[in-house]
Amino acid sequence: MPYLILASRNAHKAEEIAVILGDRFRIQTLADFPNAPEVVEDGDTFAANAVKKAEGIAAWLKAQTLNQARPDLVLADDSGLEVDALEGGPGVRSARYAGGESNAADASNNAKLLHEMDEIPDELRGAQFQCVLALIELYQASKVLTFDGICQGKIARVQTGKGGFGYDPLFIPKGHMKSLAELGPVVKNEISHRSRALAKLSEYLNQG
Ligand code: IMP
Repeated sequence: MPYLILASRNAHKAEEIAVILGDRFRIQTLADFPNAPEVVEDGDTFAANAVKKAEGIAAWLKAQTLNQARPDLVLADDSGLEVDALEGGPGVRSARYAGGESNAADASNNAKLLHEMDEIPDELRGAQFQCVLALIELYQASKVLTFDGICQGKIARVQTGKGGFGYDPLFIPKGHMKSLAELGPVVKNEISHRSRALAKLSEYLNQG
């Protein structure tokens, strides 16, 4: 079974991806490669950041003499929340929303979002999660492929639920009455932006 490394230090993302792809790959994460470089996410789009992360980790891996299993594929995820009333924000700044230039705790990001949305009426609370995955097959031509996914919904007025991560307690997906955090991992993995991008990735891999 090939090895696939997730170019992410976000354990929640890694867990969601591993649940969906774990049958076809042995999954590694950056926790297995503690010396891997930190890739600065300074792109203007999710795609630019995902590609930058995948290319940064792929280049580093190729230059290493490893005394552990060498990944066959590198997969990076860049994702975030786009809120209509905030003109698509926080977008690529989702992890840093309440933190200036550094990542903030989920609780702080959610508190800031609720505050900014305080005056926004129910009918204008639309939002979507977006995910772009970038894949590099290390020992092939090393070209980068991207796969995207969107999950539409709206921003709640209070946080509910304990599952998931990030903005899940505030995000009510279209067609549902509960937040992603309340709906739990099984439902989230059926409808999320990440699972939709992963479905496209699986389709590509099935063709190969
Ligand atoms: P990244 O690690 O730069 O891609 O940051 C993504 C940020 O977007 C996370 O820290 C979360 O705040 C938010 N985010 C991305 N995906 C999800 C999700 O599935 N649920 C909730 N928040 C998410």
